[in-house]
Formats: sequence, C-alpha cells, structure tokens
Amino acid sequence: MKISSNGNGPTVLSKVPRHVAVVMDGNGRWAKKRFLPRVEGHRAGVKSVRMIVEESRRLGIRYLTLFAFSTENWQRPRDEVSSLMKLFAQYLESELELMLKNDIRLRAVGDLSRLPKEVQHSLQKNFDRTKDMQGMDLVLAVSYGGRDELVHAARRIAEKARSGELDPDSISEATITEHLYAPDVPDPDVLIRTSDENRISNFLLWQLAYSEIVVTPVLWPDFSKEEYTRCLQEFSGRTRRFGLTDEQLAQGAAAAK
Ligand code: IPE
Ligand code: IPE
Ligand code: MG
Repeated sequence: MKISSNGNGPTVLSKVPRHVAVVMDGNGRWAKKRFLPRVEGHRAGVKSVRMIVEESRRLGIRYLTLFAFSTENWQRPRDEVSSLMKLFAQYLESELELMLKNDIRLRAVGDLSRLPKEVQHSLQKNFDRTKDMQGMDLVLAVSYGGRDELVHAARRIAEKARSGELDPDSISEATITEHLYAPDVPDPDVLIRTSDENRISNFLLWQLAYSEIVVTPVLWPDFSKEEYTRCLQEFSGRTRRFGLTDEQLAQGAAAAK
C-alpha cells in the first residue's frame, strides 16, 4: 500500500479501510500536562473529532465509529460527567450543518436511555435530519459497553426463543450480529487507540474479533491529520490472515485475478 501526495495536493490513500473505529483517549492527560481542569481536555478533543470526521469522509471511509463515552465512564466524578454531556449536546448542535454538507449520516450505539433528555433530543434531531445521507455513517458510541451490548442482544434473542419466534438450535453467529445495536455496520477493519493504551476497554467486543489494532502515543486533543494518515498507513502494511496461512491467502489472491 502506498500513500502518495501529488505536489501540494491532498494525500491519497490507495487502500482505504471500510470501517475505522477509534478509542479517543487521553483528554485528561492532555489537560493535566497543561495544569488545566480535565474538562478543558475534553473541550480540546472536539477539534480532533471534527478533523477525523472530515478526513475520513474525504478519504472515502464508509463507516467511522468513535468511542465517546463508555458505560464505565458513568462512574466518573459527577462534574466531569455533566460537562461531557454538555459538550456532547453542543457538538451535536454545532456539527449538524457540516454533516449535511458532507453527506454524513449520524448514528449512535449504546444505552441511550441513560443520557440526559436534552442529549437524547439532540441526538434524535440529528438522526432524523441526516437519515438520508449516504456518504459516510458516523457512529457515536455513547453510554456504550461491549458487554452491555451483548447482554442486550442476549435478552432480545431469549425473548424471541420464549415466544417461539426463534428456535434456540438455529442460533448462529449471524443471529448474535443481527441483534447488536447497529447490525448492518460491518466489523471494523482497524481499531485506532490514542494515548498509548493497549486495551479494548469494553469497546465493540464482538465486532473487533479480527480488526487490526493500531496504537499511537499521541493524546487525543493532539491527534492530527498527519497522525491519522500515519495510523492508516500502519494498518495498510499489515497482513490480515483471518486464521488462514500465507499460502492460502496467496492462492486466494491469484484466484481473484
Ligand atoms: C477520553 O479521555 C475521553 C473519555 C473517556 C470520555 P480521558 O478522559 O479518558 O483521558 P485520560 O485517559 O484520563 O487521559
Ligand atoms: C475508553 O477510555 C472510553 C472512551 C474513550 C470513551 P477510558 O479512559 O474510559 O478507558 P480506561 O479506563 O483507560 O480503560
Ligand atoms: Mg482515558
């Protein structure tokens, strides 16, 4: 995979992942380094969100999932949680036009019923206004936990089994996938995590089974277009085997020609 740049023009990727998932981490550390309150880190992180949304759309990435707030994050200090919710509501208001202009459909995964009513309303408004956009799906993971999503799916499957709508013997991997929050969204090709943390932190547990993981030391508010390109470049250099051998992969590639 090569990344080329024609003169001063924009960077062009020759291979683009279909789905990029991101754990946006390090806002607190960014603020701490500057002797600022943590909320200032979250505020500064919004511009990186703007950058990655615009850049992903420009590159032709079809799905972008951003981990904005986890089920565990509800246990943070009350002030921080309420600041994050306010910022989130502001973000939804300020970005709507940009989403429409860029043909971006906004979606969300997570237990949205736990969000403050104003945030739920803003989300619903943005879902409705952007529902026909087809350039890119921006999926926000808010109040999201991978385990919570699987519990939610298990309950719905169990209800169908109880009512006779579904035969327990017919339950397959596809059945689980069909009962996730966003069943039509393909598994992420790449998971990017900022701030040097090598863990999944309860993000997309089912969907990340075969995603390539790229970790960068850059803190989320400092995450730039250049660093994003570098992460995508790292992803492109990986060999994805999906459990097969190199020889099988080579045969498959030859057969496809
Ligand atoms: C990520 O930054 C944002 C959220 C989890 C909401 P953090 O707030 O986790 O920042 P660090 O990890 O403390 O630096
Ligand atoms: C993961 O980051 C959640 C989000 C980025 C929203 P955390 O900062 O909550 O994860 P841990 O606690 O370091 O694992
Ligand atoms: Mg963190």
